Amino acid sequence: MRLILLGPPGAGKGTQAQRIVEKHGIPQLSTGDMLRAAVNAGTDVGKRAKAVMDAGKLVSDEIVIAIVSERIDQPDCANGFILDGFPRTLVQADATEAMLRAKGLGLSVVIEFRVDDDELVRRVAGRYSCAQCGSVYHDTDKVPAAEGVCDKCGSTHFKRRPDDNPETMTARLQVYYKETSPLIGYYHAKGKLRSVDGIAEIDQVTAEVENILSKL
Ligand code: AP5
Repeated sequence: MRLILLGPPGAGKGTQAQRIVEKHGIPQLSTGDMLRAAVNAGTDVGKRAKAVMDAGKLVSDEIVIAIVSERIDQPDCANGFILDGFPRTLVQADATEAMLRAKGLGLSVVIEFRVDDDELVRRVAGRYSCAQCGSVYHDTDKVPAAEGVCDKCGSTHFKRRPDDNPETMTARLQVYYKETSPLIGYYHAKGKLRSVDGIAEIDQVTAEVENILSKL
């Protein structure tokens, strides 16, 4: 299975990707996570990406296409992968198609998560994640079973993203509607698009996603 998860910031792409990883054993390729790792490691790419990410803008197509192209050649992607947060522009979408074609691969499906802006802002404002394994939580909607202890790895250290503030979130939403939302029509025209109600409760969204995957 080769999947694309498409949707605005805070729509639940990462949350659902983690569940697909657990159930189907294919890796999550999150360009956001890869870029944040590069920023934390202080690489050249990270240094170039940091200011752009902090402003809620998009890192250059050239950089993210190169990162993804290299990543999908890794052995753990042989049986499929989940693209989370990529592609995000029409240039990236065309590059994805060319990349897959060059490797003799096809795209299984693009799942779009539909959530209104007020809910997106609320979710991002309450988001935090495990500093050790990256599991994503929310102040009210998804708290660890034992307070202050990560369900997955037991760590007691958590962090918040620097771009999860109201000003940057406004910029990220504007960028989404201008640069990324055209991909909805792009994939619809190719017969690859399926949409889910991303407002629903997390387990309900997972059930909708699994229903789509079961028909592939
Ligand atoms: P990235 O890391 O990709 O962020 P994003 O797309 O803005 O998406 P998010 O991670 O914010 O949201 P999500 O949909 O994964 O939601 P989540 O599951 O966490 O990108 C960050 C930056 O990197 C970009 O701004 C850009 O600068 C750069 N970048 C990345 N990719 C790029 C690319 N391809 N090209 C150029 N630049 C790129 O959920 C959010 C919260 O809601 C959580 O707290 C969760 O617990 C909660 N939640 C989830 N689902 C539900 C639900 N159903 N009900 C209630 N709460 C829920």
